Amino acid sequence: MTNFENRNVTKDLYDSTASQWIRQEPSSLSDFTARPFVLELCEPVRGLRVLDLGCGEGYCSRELRALGATQVCGLDISEGMIAAAKLQEAQQPWGIDYEVGCATNLQQFGDRTFDLVVAVFLFNYLTTAQTQQCIAEIARVLSPGGRFVFSVPHPCFPYMREAAYPFYFEVEGRGYFSKRDWQFPGRIWKRNGSWLNVQLIHKTLEDYFDALKNAGFNTMPTLKELRVTPEHIALDESFFSPLVDLPLHLAIQVWR
Ligand SMILES: C[S@@+](CC[C@H](N)C(=O)[O-])C[C@H]1O[C@@H](n2cnc3c(N)ncnc32)[C@H](O)[C@@H]1O
Repeated sequence: MTNFENRNVTKDLYDSTASQWIRQEPSSLSDFTARPFVLELCEPVRGLRVLDLGCGEGYCSRELRALGATQVCGLDISEGMIAAAKLQEAQQPWGIDYEVGCATNLQQFGDRTFDLVVAVFLFNYLTTAQTQQCIAEIARVLSPGGRFVFSVPHPCFPYMREAAYPFYFEVEGRGYFSKRDWQFPGRIWKRNGSWLNVQLIHKTLEDYFDALKNAGFNTMPTLKELRVTPEHIALDESFFSPLVDLPLHLAIQVWR
């Protein structure tokens, strides 16, 4: 798949499903199992200039603003998602700037202009080469001492999980190493029984760490393997229990 093709597949997917992503409170599985922990990793956020790459309809951008970021800019390749983000901004202004753009080219932003760059489930839409380009750009726009926090589906998860509900990627058999950069469809359910169609361009743990190292992130990262917790089970056992004891997502923080 060429870069042009994978970007267009992503745009089409998100332009056609933008309205399903709009939420003001947690709804999909990863709103419980990932985003609260990613946001925790972003703390302290107060007073920071933040760039939210692959911001979608702005869920995390709004949360980061609520945590005290002084400036939040959200960027997404999908016009539909940015329109949904702007609509919510018009209904309840947070002072967030949203723009359409591709995360692999941040030329509209100067060097060292952000204190925190966040990318929540962006890299599963980028190839290894695009991920390297994007992380190099992030290193450029981060101020010295700034932080980069991102989450991705755990690279092992698709190969450990066959059943669909409430979260899966259709990887068809083995291929942890041989299927790097292959694109697979997946689904993630909401607690109300509906689901969101998602995609995975598979990369290994090594691919992410190589991209960080090549971009000059040389400090020891903080890495969290996010999972279903006892609190999730207490909240909704039938929804979360099929995923107990599986590594669902990775959340990583590195310093510039
Ligand atoms: C799974 S959604 C997550 C949205 C948001 N971060 C959230 O947590 O709700 C992934 C988002 O990444 C965006 N995206 C994918 N490839 C991109 C690219 N090359 N540049 C910018 N955004 C991209 C998609 O359009 C989509 O909105």
